[in-house]
Amino acid sequence: MRLEEKQKKLAQLRQEISKCQKCPLAKSRSRTVPGEGDPNAQIIFIGEAPGFNEDQQGIPFCGAAGKFLDELLESIEMKRQDVFIANTLKCRPPENRDPEPEEKAACQPYLDQQIEIIGPEIIITLGKHSTETFLPGVGGITKLRAKLFRRPGIRYIFPLYHPAAALHNGNLRDTLIQDFKKIPDVLKKIKAEAKPALEKEQNLTLF
Ligand code: URA
Repeated sequence: MRLEEKQKKLAQLRQEISKCQKCPLAKSRSRTVPGEGDPNAQIIFIGEAPGFNEDQQGIPFCGAAGKFLDELLESIEMKRQDVFIANTLKCRPPENRDPEPEEKAACQPYLDQQIEIIGPEIIITLGKHSTETFLPGVGGITKLRAKLFRRPGIRYIFPLYHPAAALHNGNLRDTLIQDFKKIPDVLKKIKAEAKPALEKEQNLTLF
């Protein structure tokens, strides 16, 4: 898909999301947070749900966790404009509670469409909620972090700790910093993979 077409489709989706009434979060939100970034991004980062700052500004990861995410991106010589950043939910759950399964289910088609339009090389799930969405029943984030998974349709998934969880925990923080540094090599490896082999893939496999 050409860039202009991607931009147009993402803008239409943004508009649709801004009017969404599919779940009760529509009543409590200030603004929807559809996600943003490069329509041609090779990487989509997917967090959990908007927090207070995101709900106020309509921008994903614009608070303390976002500042840390920016630093992590900088450590691999990337900027947020080079990637696409989204969440499993487009609206803030009250008091930042965990997303409910019904909310995730209602919101998932928006994320699916964003992924389809952008066509990234890899999806990096941040934290347990986002990881569970893409790798249901496979295991907890501690077990799955920094492992590369292949899935038909979506291609590759690389789970990492959530920056907010790592922000106040020294061990998780160091691990996330080190894991992040693996991203450029993982991308290189993916690009070197022969595409026909991917299409044959039927099941989820550990890469
Ligand atoms: N945490 C998330 O999961 N997403 C955001 O956008 C901000 C904080």
